[in-house]
Amino acid sequence: MQSVSALFQIYTFAEMSALSLELQPNMTRTFPDQFLWGSATAAYQVEGAVNTDGRGLSIWDQFCRTPGKIEDGSSGDLACDHYHRYRDDISLMAGLGMRAYRFSVCWARILPNGVGKVNGAGLDFYDRLVDTLLQHRIQPFVTLYHWDMPQALQDKGGWANRDLVSAYADYAAVVAARLGDRVKNWITLNEPWVSAFMGYFMGVHAPGLTDWRTGLQVSHHLNLAHGRGSQAIRAASADAKVGIALNLSWTDPASDSEADRAAAWRHDGYVNRWFLDPLFKGSYPVDMIEWLGPDAPTIAPGDLSIIQQPNDFLGINYYTRSIIGEGDDFPQMKLRWVYGPNDHTDMGWEVYPDGLYHTLMRVTQDYQPAAIYITENGAAFPDKLNGTEEVHDEKRVNYLRAHFESAQRAIEDGAPLKGYFVWSLMDNFEWSYGYTKRFGLVYVDYPTQKRVLKTSARFYQNVIRHNAV
Ligand code: FCB
Repeated sequence: MQSVSALFQIYTFAEMSALSLELQPNMTRTFPDQFLWGSATAAYQVEGAVNTDGRGLSIWDQFCRTPGKIEDGSSGDLACDHYHRYRDDISLMAGLGMRAYRFSVCWARILPNGVGKVNGAGLDFYDRLVDTLLQHRIQPFVTLYHWDMPQALQDKGGWANRDLVSAYADYAAVVAARLGDRVKNWITLNEPWVSAFMGYFMGVHAPGLTDWRTGLQVSHHLNLAHGRGSQAIRAASADAKVGIALNLSWTDPASDSEADRAAAWRHDGYVNRWFLDPLFKGSYPVDMIEWLGPDAPTIAPGDLSIIQQPNDFLGINYYTRSIIGEGDDFPQMKLRWVYGPNDHTDMGWEVYPDGLYHTLMRVTQDYQPAAIYITENGAAFPDKLNGTEEVHDEKRVNYLRAHFESAQRAIEDGAPLKGYFVWSLMDNFEWSYGYTKRFGLVYVDYPTQKRVLKTSARFYQNVIRHNAV
């Protein structure tokens, strides 16, 4: 195996520790002791090795092969080759001082056909990953579903088929039984809103369907899968802490008009409350059910009490806010999007750190979660590699600093925020954008697979070291 210094041009452990890490005079916002700093990735975005050790086909393998779906025509076939390079990647995290790593398990590695025969070699990979993390004193946070459904289950209708909820619970039980002695924190689903609506209604994510009612039914099945999955994890591992990662969007009305304020509330219903209410209150928002009318999903008796499992924590993925008015950009909900006045990232997302503060406070007040983690926050910018030198990404540094400050302010004001996972450890396969968007703290030079630190990685190392921003 290559040594760490050979792989990562500009640093070894010793070099990293020697970096000047003095407390900046303006680092005045301190985080609570034990605050957990880490980074996040997802299986399909980083692992590669799609035909290795008995892995089955996933809907993202299939989707990437559909012409026109991925901006640069690429796929996750190789991605960051994390499947083979995880040891070096973990050394890298440890060198940066990270104390937690959020990764996802690829269902099709564990159950190549979605159900039935378990593939031991797939479980072995996550076993090694977890052990290596623990050797470096990095806590694993395991996401069980980050969008890569086994294709064999999509062939049966995917999440539109209610039977998938049981298949998912069985899969969760298998993984928790194997890793639950060492993994204490579990995330059932990543961003069910995205799975349901970008996958089954907008058609821009796998499986690429475009039906509104199907999207809504899928969203209910995903909520149910969270409930059944939580039960399965807890049955397999008594001291497991279980939560979900939701993409929450702070929503401001485009104007003060009654129509725009009502539209902003509908958007909040569709993106935020549609998931938060059943999870924490055991009911879907009444205004949404009324608005949807005949499009509302079929909900069987007992479903809502299964969805409303006690949550040990809520994971929040926060990137930007939404400014919403009444209009026809999205006829089903009668919404219109307004371009925000602040800077935008390479994704075209407005930089709006106050939205993170508002989201944390709103969730704390309206839903009283026992604990919150920021399970994703970060920004894409068009970083450039210049030889082997550090990649300069001051915009990302500024983005992160402002969001850390918002988070710290929310903690001071009572939000039970326990940790923060930057998206992402390294540049990776950004779904329908392929490799055209870079979110990493670490630059990945795809042709050579070399990892090169960005300035933001060293900034983050400093924040972690001082537990302050
Ligand atoms: C989130 C996803 C994550 C990544 C970021 C940029 O919606 O959960 O996988 O793509 O966006």
